[in-house]
Amino acid sequence: MPRSYVVTSEDTAIALGSGDVPVLATPRVIAWLEAATVDACPDLAPDETSVGTRVDIEHLAASPVGARVDTAAELVHRDGRLLRFAVTAQHDVGQGPVLVAQGQVTRVVVRREPFLARVGPDLVIREALPDELPAVGELRVEAYVAGYGMAEEEVGYADVLRDVVRQATQAQILVALRRGELVGTVTIVPAGRPLAEVAQPGEVEFRFMAVAPHAWRQGIAQALMAAVTDRSAGQTLVCSVIEGNEPAAGLYLAHGFTSIPGRDHEPVPGVRLKVFTRPAG
Ligand SMILES: CC(C)(COP(=O)(O)OP(=O)(O)OC[C@H]1O[C@@H](n2cnc3c(N)ncnc32)[C@H](O)[C@@H]1OP(=O)(O)O)[C@@H](O)C(=O)NCCC(=O)NCCS
Repeated sequence: MPRSYVVTSEDTAIALGSGDVPVLATPRVIAWLEAATVDACPDLAPDETSVGTRVDIEHLAASPVGARVDTAAELVHRDGRLLRFAVTAQHDVGQGPVLVAQGQVTRVVVRREPFLARVGPDLVIREALPDELPAVGELRVEAYVAGYGMAEEEVGYADVLRDVVRQATQAQILVALRRGELVGTVTIVPAGRPLAEVAQPGEVEFRFMAVAPHAWRQGIAQALMAAVTDRSAGQTLVCSVIEGNEPAAGLYLAHGFTSIPGRDHEPVPGVRLKVFTRPAG
């Protein structure tokens, strides 16, 4: 199935950093041609997909912004799992069709799950990127509402949970990504920072631990706890849990935390928070 694109300023060599002229960038042509090979793939089994392994393209003519570029791919060779496609791109800017690029793309059919398993760990824990912060806020609210029945409108707490962009200036926001999907988050706040509710000097507090409900009981919070431990540089960890939040209490007790009733607090009348700590070491 041929695909057509209109070259925009986002597709130029300048925009992609592949040159300094405002014409269609070679990497963009290659991406469009590879997309054409995805369309031209023969039917695969439900657990299969294909991945690009070799690209051999000549970029022959410059397409200006505004030009329409038509791409096409044809399967010309198949050898077991290997698929080879002939690809072309052409534009017409008023003087008839011009061949913009041509060549071959090779793809290999793979089984999706084993392929992804080989690529790397399923779960990546790292600091959130700036453009992920709003989604972190939504994930927190979703988890807290589903987790212990926090009402969204409850004393503005949902606003606190969504206030991630500001919090990122004073704390470390970690995310758990499973195959690229945001499934969990936790926030690390050193003692003395405004976001720290209960940390005493020498303690590291973590807050807003949240896992997407569809991913509960799959070890995501456990992995986030391990990341918090790694980053706490041997200091005592501390957190607060709202009374009655059994999953969270269960999580921390399972990870060597103990409840310290003497430090329990009630920041808002009726909202009783239990403090859990785990000494360094
Ligand atoms: C609490 C929460 C973060 C746990 O996340 P999770 O990814 O499901 O937890 P894990 O799968 O890593 O569980 C690790 C351990 O915690 C304990 N645990 C987790 N969920 C539990 C539950 N519902 N009841 C009892 N213990 C639980 C268990 O010991 C579990 O180990 P196991 O599954 O081998 O028995 C998740 O339920 C959540 O997001 N809740 C809403 C938000 C929230 O309450 N955050 C905490 C604020 S303090």
